Amino acid sequence: MDNNPGVLRASGIWGVGSSVPERVLTNADLEQMVDTSDEWIQSRTGIQRRRIAAEDQAASDLALEASRIALDRAGVSAEELDLVIVATVTPDMAFPATACIVADRLGNNSAAAFDLEAGCTGFVYALTVGSQMIATGAFNRVLVVGSEILSCITDWEDRASCVLFGDAAGAAVLGPALPGTGILSHVLGSDGSGGDVLYMPAGGSRLPATEETVASRQHFLKMKGGEVFKFAVRAMARSASEAAARAGLEPSDIDCYIPHQANNRIITASASRLGIPLEKVVMNIHEYGNTSSASIPLALAEAWENGRIEPGDHVLLVGFGAGLTWGATVMKWMSDEERVL
Ligand code: UT7
Repeated sequence: MDNNPGVLRASGIWGVGSSVPERVLTNADLEQMVDTSDEWIQSRTGIQRRRIAAEDQAASDLALEASRIALDRAGVSAEELDLVIVATVTPDMAFPATACIVADRLGNNSAAAFDLEAGCTGFVYALTVGSQMIATGAFNRVLVVGSEILSCITDWEDRASCVLFGDAAGAAVLGPALPGTGILSHVLGSDGSGGDVLYMPAGGSRLPATEETVASRQHFLKMKGGEVFKFAVRAMARSASEAAARAGLEPSDIDCYIPHQANNRIITASASRLGIPLEKVVMNIHEYGNTSSASIPLALAEAWENGRIEPGDHVLLVGFGAGLTWGATVMKWMSDEERVL
C-alpha cells in the first residue's frame, strides 16, 4: 500500500446498504401490550411501526446483510477490506467483537476488526474513525456498520420506552477520494455526567448478571425521556452547525440533512434551529422507530436509494445518544470518478 507519512488523504463513502427484519410491530400491536395509544405514540414521536428481529436473529445477521449490499454497490470485494468497525450497543455477545464475526462471515479472515460503542452516535463515531484511518494511509478499504437488536434490551412492560425502539442495520464502505470530495469535516463529543439518563444497569462488571438482576429488570434499557429530549435538540443543532462550519459551509448550504431518528419533534426542532427546510430533512422514523446506531446509515441508504442524494450534494449526518455522546459529519457526496483506487 502507498503509505505517505504526513500527507493526509481524502476519504468518502463508496457504497451504502441496509437491512431490517421482516416482522412489523405496529402501534396497534403495542396497544395490546402496554397502556398506550396509537394517537399518543404518533403525536409524541412520529412513530407508526417498527421492525423486530426474529428470535434467532442477532446484530451480526442484520450487519452481514447490510454489508453485502454496501460492498456490492461500492464494487469492493470482502477480501479487499482491511478494517471492519461495527457500532452497536447490542453486540452478538460481550466478546468476541461482532465486527470479527461479520468479517469472518463475509469471508475475510485478515482485516482488523473491532466494535465501537457510543450509543446512538456510534455510526458517526465509527465513520470518523474509519475515515481518519484512510486519511493517514493506515487502511484503504473500510467497512463501517451500525447494527442493533434493541428489542432484546427493551423492557416491554415500560410504556415510556418500549414504544420507541426497533431493530435494523446500515453499512457504508469507505475508500480514498479526490481532495475536496467525500468526508469534509467531523465533530465528536461526550459528557459522561449525563450517563444516568440513558443506560442499561446490569450485565457488565459493575453489576454482573445474577438471578436478582434479571428479576429486577436491570438488563433492560432505562431512560429519562424528557432529559434526553432537551439534550438532543441542543446537541444536534450545535454539532451540526459546527460540522458545517468546519467544512467551510453554512447550514443553508446543506442539501440533505440526515439526523438520528429518535423522535420527529427532536428532528424538526433541530432542523428549525439550523434553518434547514423540511424538504431537505430525511425522516423515516414513522417506519422504523429509533434503531440507535443503525438509524443514520439506514436513513442514508434509503435516501440514496430514493435518489435524494446526488454526487456533489452536501450531506450532513448528525447524532446523539447514550454517554451522553454527540457527533456530526459533513460530506460532499462522491461520484464514481472521484474514487481514488
Ligand atoms: O436515541 C436516544 C434515545 N431516546 C430518546 O431520544 C428519547 C427522547 N425523548 C423523547 O422522545 C420523549 O421524551 C418521549 C417520547 C420519550 C416522551 O415524550 P414527552 O412528551 O417527553 O412525554 P413525557 O415523558 O413528559 O410524558 C407525558 C405523559 C406522562 O403522563 P402524565 O405524567 O402527564 O400523566 C407519561 O406517563 O405521557 C405518559 N406516557 C405515555 N402515555 C401513553 C409516557 N409514555 C406513554 C405511552 N403511552 N407510551
